[in-house]
Amino acid sequence: MANYFAIIGAYLLGSLSFAVIVSRCMGMPDPHSYGSGNPGATNVLRSGRKSAAALTLLGDALKGWLAVWLAIHFQTAWQLSNDTIAITAVAVLLGHMWPVFFKFKGGKGVATALGILLALSWPTALLCAGVWLIMAFGFKVSSLAALIATLISPFIAWWLIPHTSWVYAVVVIDLLVLYRHKSNIKNLFSGRESKIGQNK
Ligand code: G3P
Repeated sequence: MANYFAIIGAYLLGSLSFAVIVSRCMGMPDPHSYGSGNPGATNVLRSGRKSAAALTLLGDALKGWLAVWLAIHFQTAWQLSNDTIAITAVAVLLGHMWPVFFKFKGGKGVATALGILLALSWPTALLCAGVWLIMAFGFKVSSLAALIATLISPFIAWWLIPHTSWVYAVVVIDLLVLYRHKSNIKNLFSGRESKIGQNK
């Protein structure tokens, strides 16, 4: 029973779309209505409010971290298997991408995936964040940095994460993140992808 609570709880926590929540609290337009239309930190930054983008990034990463950290922390008490923790990690990302509280219109999952990785294996998260930062400073394109970090992360996870099911969870998370970046991939190939902070 605790297994189902952990997975459903993670999905519900993931469904808190911080781009929308922060924008509403700060009296800003809905992030679906401008830029790429994506409820995520990169798009909120296009509003010109850096603090709102930072809070979105923090909130989205924190919920990913919290859902998985709780499952790991209470693994023994709640008798959760490593497989359940892996499914919990995927569930919080599914909530972020298809949130029940926001008409299933969610984000692309980069910040939440980082939070999940932080809970599963902080060295993996730090290395992936490092890849993102280097690519973001180099190319100044958020989606490209995210795509490169996403493509590299399964190899880092395979190297550093001891449980096979958790590595599989990272692979599933990466596939979902890649899928949600379909339009960005098209824009990158056609040279139409905007730089960080630039309007679409
Ligand atoms: O994290 C999302 C980012 O990779 C792309 O966002 O708004 O440029 O589609 P956006």
